[in-house]
Amino acid sequence: MKRKDLLGLYDLTAEEIVSIVDEGVKIKALLRNGQKKFSDLSGKSVVTLFYENSTRTRCSFDLAAKNLGANVINLGVANSSVQKGETLIDTGKTLDMQQNDFMVLRHPAAGAPRLLAKTVKAHVINAGDGMTEHPTQALLDFLTMKEKFGKIEGLTVAILGDITHSRVAKSNLYGLNKLGARVRLFAPRTLMPAEIGTLGAKVCSTREEALEGADVVMALRIQLERQHAGNFPSLGEYAKYYGVDDKALSLAKPDAIVMHPAPVNRGVELTSSVIDGERSYIEDQVFSGLAVRMAVFKALL
Ligand code: CP
Repeated sequence: MKRKDLLGLYDLTAEEIVSIVDEGVKIKALLRNGQKKFSDLSGKSVVTLFYENSTRTRCSFDLAAKNLGANVINLGVANSSVQKGETLIDTGKTLDMQQNDFMVLRHPAAGAPRLLAKTVKAHVINAGDGMTEHPTQALLDFLTMKEKFGKIEGLTVAILGDITHSRVAKSNLYGLNKLGARVRLFAPRTLMPAEIGTLGAKVCSTREEALEGADVVMALRIQLERQHAGNFPSLGEYAKYYGVDDKALSLAKPDAIVMHPAPVNRGVELTSSVIDGERSYIEDQVFSGLAVRMAVFKALL
């Protein structure tokens, strides 16, 4: 890939997405066979900067870089000079002068990784910015879909949940459209951006319309931290009308899979029987995350 940075799937071509996913498939097979040491990033330095909480993304970037032989610094933002008021740009310049080759950034502000990328020589990877994009989450989702179905073109992917606040939904939408999948969206009206229909997805008015015949059922996390906004009356009502239980899942194709970027609110977006059921690929998504992040480092190098 002839890019310095990975900022979002909005920017990538279908060919670039496919090449990362296909490399991820190969890496995952090697990891499955027990290989954990690679030398692609030998002599390189990676710094992760997470201005928001994370378990999966942060740990998998850390592990991906270490598996590839890099030196890794996990900057603890809570204990860094960010707390003294240092700007993102000044932090980035400092890390640049320390000759870091990659900066992996999660930030609550939309566009923060793009701003950092303009400022520093290092490769910048967006690990989630505001409500904008989470490109490596979508790439790992594609890896799981590709392994399960052998292709992404022609799949019907139903995405249910908080579309408005979800960077995962946006990255999936951009990428799936480029790869020739059909995307259906279903959410409470208060959590569905008005303009989303112009981005190539079918906005469904019932859960049944979204799930009927779907290959992939992707539920999104209800962001409890935003619940005070009153976007839906209660978690119980959300679960009843917008969540997925076994009965709702039976509307999808018999070989349909269930995905969720996690962390999951058990009993809200998905019932425990769906999360822990045989059609759930949520744990596989975590494994795909490690492989695809290794593929992203390799692609940018
Ligand atoms: N899916 C995801 O981004 O999870 P974390 O917030 O734990 O990284």
